[in-house]
Amino acid sequence: MSDYGKLFDLTGQVAIVTGSSRGIGRAMAEALAAQGARVVVTSRRQEACEDVAAAIKSAGGEAMVIPCNVSHEDQLANLVEQTLAAWGRIDTLVCNAAANPHYGPFLEIPDDMYDKTMLVNVRNVMKLCRMTLPAMKEQGGGSIIITSSTGALAGSDYLGTYCLTKAADVQMVKNLAVAHGRDGVTANAILPGLVKTHFAKALWEDPDALAAAERDTALGRIGEPVDLAGIAVYLASRAGRWTTGQSFVIDGGWAIRGE
Ligand SMILES: NC(=O)c1ccc[n+]([C@@H]2O[C@H](COP(=O)([O-])OP(=O)(O)OC[C@H]3O[C@@H](n4cnc5c(N)ncnc54)[C@H](OP(=O)(O)O)[C@@H]3O)[C@@H](O)[C@H]2O)c1
Repeated sequence: MSDYGKLFDLTGQVAIVTGSSRGIGRAMAEALAAQGARVVVTSRRQEACEDVAAAIKSAGGEAMVIPCNVSHEDQLANLVEQTLAAWGRIDTLVCNAAANPHYGPFLEIPDDMYDKTMLVNVRNVMKLCRMTLPAMKEQGGGSIIITSSTGALAGSDYLGTYCLTKAADVQMVKNLAVAHGRDGVTANAILPGLVKTHFAKALWEDPDALAAAERDTALGRIGEPVDLAGIAVYLASRAGRWTTGQSFVIDGGWAIRGE
């Protein structure tokens, strides 16, 4: 008989969460650690990551910090190498850090900003998955999770390139799922709606924009980072082991809004 009490137990597992110094990534890192995973907290700012690792440890969990700017391939390689050197395995990879350098008409984005958005949100996500997959295959499986966005679901002018990359992430998990399912690896995307984080400040600090978001959300409020924690635990755990190639819209009921 299955041990349903341990369906979400991550004891013995290792998880990397990019962009976990704050916001959604931090909530995911803390939740994975609370279920027993050893968590690599990583972003560009070591000090901010140390604070998160300290919070995880003081709650009884295990964490270490490996700084990594996901724009740089050598730092991605170092993230994987250092994790394997310290803990010998990678069960869950959460590609959560993202860039959105341009807010303006889609066709007016400067080339350097277009390239940066594509590099951080698509190419280097693929590269980090590629670097992590050998360890996952060798140990018999793993879970890849990419933080996409509900921006992937609709046309957008002012966030056009960002949304383009987030739609690419939805396709990326499908590609990874079909290519590596037989290695025991699942790949899924999480599509948050508007969440109260630094990243989306411009959208929720403006009272009119906030009121519109609240009006258009079935549950009547925008998200908090913790609202995205449970789906990450599900996908990392035995509970999610037959779930792959999927995109989970976690948005308080925004995308299903009617008139
Ligand atoms: N908030 C929303 O409404 C919303 C909605 C849909 C999707 N999302 C997605 O959710 C994810 C997390 O965003 P968030 O809202 O939680 O934002 P946030 O609170 O601003 O956190 C962003 C995290 O990414 C890190 N980061 C940024 N650039 C990085 C880089 N080049 N290399 C490594 N780390 C980097 C930041 O840390 P450092 O500054 O320390 O590097 C921070 O830990 C993103 O993929 C975003 O697209 C957010």
